[in-house]
Amino acid sequence: MIYSRIAGTGSYLPARIVTNDELASRLDTSDQWVRERTGIAQRHIADDSQACSDLALEASRRAMEAAGVSAAELDLIVVATSTPDFIFPSTACILQAKLGAKNGAAFDIQAVCSGFVYALATADKFIRSGQYRCALVVGSEVFSRILDWNDRGTCVLFGDGAGAVVLRAGDAPGIHSSILRADGSYADILSVPGNVSHGKITGSPFLQMVGNQVFKFAVKVLDEVAREALSAAGAEISDIDWLIPHQANVRILEATSKKLGIPAEKVVLTVDHHGNTSAASVPLALDEYVRAGKIKPGHRLLMEGVGGGFTWGAVYATL
Ligand code: UT7
Repeated sequence: MIYSRIAGTGSYLPARIVTNDELASRLDTSDQWVRERTGIAQRHIADDSQACSDLALEASRRAMEAAGVSAAELDLIVVATSTPDFIFPSTACILQAKLGAKNGAAFDIQAVCSGFVYALATADKFIRSGQYRCALVVGSEVFSRILDWNDRGTCVLFGDGAGAVVLRAGDAPGIHSSILRADGSYADILSVPGNVSHGKITGSPFLQMVGNQVFKFAVKVLDEVAREALSAAGAEISDIDWLIPHQANVRILEATSKKLGIPAEKVVLTVDHHGNTSAASVPLALDEYVRAGKIKPGHRLLMEGVGGGFTWGAVYATL
């Protein structure tokens, strides 16, 4: 049997930090409201000169260095993003060129905040099939570009960043199971409903959301899909060393871990200083905990995402 295994992780956050107080200086909000309702204290925002692929490039270089992998060895690049550089070419193709990689395939996945989990599951299937042996899987977002900075109900929640992993083929897992789900009938509660037609954007180019409905939906499906992924691997909740949920809101993380019966010390938390970085949130959180020496080789990880579409999913893996 061929399995895939995470061989290295990397991440990148833009230098500029925006605190809640800075937002409160130009919006009708407060540090106290944002902390109490979301757990977020600050977020990183990309410079105007930085595109999604630039953030992805930094995270990828770090993941490749950690894995000891050169660009020539990559035969698959999958980038999860909802804020690509262009309509096309894909950000994965732009990243491939920036890395100087030439072999194999490169494509984007659009599953909003579940994007990284979707991308990881997809790359795992390609490696298990024997078609590719070394994949770069990236979540990268410049969500600051699709926010209405006058809408206090959404702009305080998000940040920019990128995270990446290198997946290598091996004869032991690695990734034990992955479950992906979607229900397009919930499209309206979280969307950016603009489109390009005849050279113009029609509809709104900004993120809109029914926050409390998203909240309830997220807690419900994160619980369900975690159980499904564990069951598919023949594992129990008690087998998990670390739960790495999509970093949307500390209250969603707490409610999910409580429902699952996972103690707080096993739940990875970065939303307080990253904000919600959509597809980048899970690999950013993973890399931060790996580099801090908290997540170690051999640890069993349950990674979970939920986002617009609606999409959701989970990957259960041994590092
Ligand atoms: O990756 C998935 C993406 N989305 C999410 O994860 C979001 C999920 N939802 C949430 O995190 C929460 O629903 C929010 C943090 C967005 C909102 O928290 P809430 O406890 O659901 O508050 P709410 O929407 O019910 O709003 C309560 C009040 C409202 O005022 P009124 O109508 O009660 O007078 C809002 O206008 O809070 C007001 N409000 C704010 N006040 C100060 C909304 N945003 C702000 C703000 N500062 N930034």
